[in-house]
Amino acid sequence: MITISKTRLAELMDRERRRFAAARPKSKALFERAKTSLLEGVPMNWMVKWAGPFPIFVEEAQGAHFVDVDGHRYVDFCLGDTGSMLGHSPAPMADAVASQVRRGITFMLPTEDSIRVGEELARRFGLPFWQIAMTATDANRFAIRLCRAITGRGLILAFNGCYHGSVDETMVTLRDGKAAPKRGSLGPPVDPSLTTRLIEFNDVRALEAALAPRDVACVLAEPAMTNVGIILPDPGYHEALREITRRTGTILIIDETHTICTGPGGYTAAHGLKPDMLTIGKPVASGLPAAAYGISQAVADLIHAKTNVQDSDVSGIGGTLSGNALAMAAMRATLLHVMTPAAYERMIPLASRFAEGVREVIGRAGLPWHVVQLGNRVEYQFRATPPRNGSEAEAAMDPDLDSFLHLYAMNRGILMTPFHNMALVAPDTTTGDVDLHTRVFAEGVDELLGRETASR
Ligand SMILES: Cc1ncc(COP(=O)(O)O)c(C=O)c1O
Repeated sequence: MITISKTRLAELMDRERRRFAAARPKSKALFERAKTSLLEGVPMNWMVKWAGPFPIFVEEAQGAHFVDVDGHRYVDFCLGDTGSMLGHSPAPMADAVASQVRRGITFMLPTEDSIRVGEELARRFGLPFWQIAMTATDANRFAIRLCRAITGRGLILAFNGCYHGSVDETMVTLRDGKAAPKRGSLGPPVDPSLTTRLIEFNDVRALEAALAPRDVACVLAEPAMTNVGIILPDPGYHEALREITRRTGTILIIDETHTICTGPGGYTAAHGLKPDMLTIGKPVASGLPAAAYGISQAVADLIHAKTNVQDSDVSGIGGTLSGNALAMAAMRATLLHVMTPAAYERMIPLASRFAEGVREVIGRAGLPWHVVQLGNRVEYQFRATPPRNGSEAEAAMDPDLDSFLHLYAMNRGILMTPFHNMALVAPDTTTGDVDLHTRVFAEGVDELLGRETASR
């Protein structure tokens, strides 16, 4: 079997880090300055997780490309980790925001845009009622809270390897059959096994056993897992999930925040899923902070019976800026004019070209890796076959290899998502962009294996 020498990997990494730093004096200087006022030199802690010795500072972006402060142009396959999945600053959304921003931003009163948003979300996802949050994390938090309120049950069920935002109940990993704090999870408020039952994805027997006691308020699930590489559901898994949740009185929440990559109605519309609730954030307003959660008629009736107007502001649901006029204008424009069937018709074939290119390189090199595509999202993983659950996917992770491939790509004008090996294709991505990635990936692999490559 082909193996990659750790020594060689370390040497190459060292070379690439030096190359990165030498070409980016302005980003380096900005990072030094940033460290004097921003914790770790960044406005949000995830932004330290880049493979280079410092983050790239962005000058400007448009569509599928951006330019850094040192003048380098990049093909962006990270796209703000899905926030800009439909491209940076798409014109219809930018115009709508520019118009609204001068007519008031937030009122604690609705605007007509919110109705158009509710109608469009209902049409796409098949759930009749909608509420707006600022982030997908909040949408998930609110959905969980509502489920607890209406079922009177305390536990939630999630899947090992999941990520649904910084939701305490889901910052967990499976340890000795129980939910334990995920590696890196800071300050968990309580022992997560008190709040969460955690099982592996694609395991129907574990699902039956976890929901049988009828003490779980809701299942929170991505329809295909995307945060531990991509894990597709086994045939029949969603039918089983729906049947068991219904039978045990457990509310089913489908989180479409990433799987909206599948198509305009997400995985839910593409595969005819019938969740009780659905959450979505990130690209739904083209990256402007806004998210939404949808509710079935039956769940809406239960919520209605539990809530009253007087206490609405202290319910633990919602927030001052949620549903603000600017976010509603951005979401309306995104849903009606950006996140369109035509955009997916452009993105998905290009994502297939991306996946095919990576597959060919892996095959030619004889490496035991594989590539998975879900709509306009592509992920390659360091195992020969697609994983069926979080444990299998995590076992194949190799942060050193990730870092090298990311840095190698950045040095050649390509940005991959810094979390595992995920690429997103935007409507403005070109075949030339995709083919550049294939070539650079092939060269990186050749270097790792110590083979001759066309360029350095
Ligand atoms: C599936 C899923 N849900 C929710 C979230 C949370 O999104 P945000 O960080 O924008 O709140 C994420 C973030 O990566 C996610 O992947």
